[in-house]
Amino acid sequence: MPPHLRLRTYHADDLTALVALFQASVNQLTAPHYDAAQRQAWAPEVADLTAWQTRFASLELLIADDAQAIAGFIGFSLDGHIDLLYCAPAYARQGVASALYAAAEHRLRAAGARELFTEASLVAQAFFARQGFSVQQAQTVTRGAVTLPRMLMRKTLEPQ
Ligand SMILES: CC(C)(COP(=O)(O)OP(=O)(O)OC[C@H]1O[C@@H](n2cnc3c(N)ncnc32)[C@H](O)[C@@H]1OP(=O)(O)O)[C@@H](O)C(=O)NCCC(=O)NCCS
Repeated sequence: MPPHLRLRTYHADDLTALVALFQASVNQLTAPHYDAAQRQAWAPEVADLTAWQTRFASLELLIADDAQAIAGFIGFSLDGHIDLLYCAPAYARQGVASALYAAAEHRLRAAGARELFTEASLVAQAFFARQGFSVQQAQTVTRGAVTLPRMLMRKTLEPQ
């Protein structure tokens, strides 16, 4: 991760910046695997901020940022579910998601989690494979008339 970035926890006033990052990340970084209709279904232009606020409040969230901008975020729950992982397009392939994931795994280990799981996009599949996850099942999510493929992936945390 670029050295000027730091990791921190979520504050309520991050809401709109995180949702904007999510929209940009889906629209730009997933294009190799998901067409325009799929990306629109995944990240609608008009976001439901109330639903996002509720979702963020239910998760452990870590953010990578500097004084200017947020570079990425991860959302997970202490049962081992990695729910959200998004990198800003300007920071892609610079180790931001790796740093966020490492911090989340550290937190999950400390909380006693032994099995991690995620519903990885086809874009994130290679990322999670590199983190030691393996595909358990191919899945399909339906949003209105659109379907999106994804992979249920799991990782067992070995004692260190
Ligand atoms: C998946 C995602 C979070 C990765 O973020 P990132 O900060 O670019 O990832 P990193 O730089 O830490 O990548 C670490 C390694 O993962 C793998 N990887 C990451 N992105 C990849 C991609 N698009 N294609 C293939 N491998 C990839 C590579 O092995 C990479 O190492 P390398 O750059 O030295 O080759 C980012 O592409 C993203 O936000 N995608 C869109 C949203 C999404 O699909 N989120 C996941 C929802 S489950």
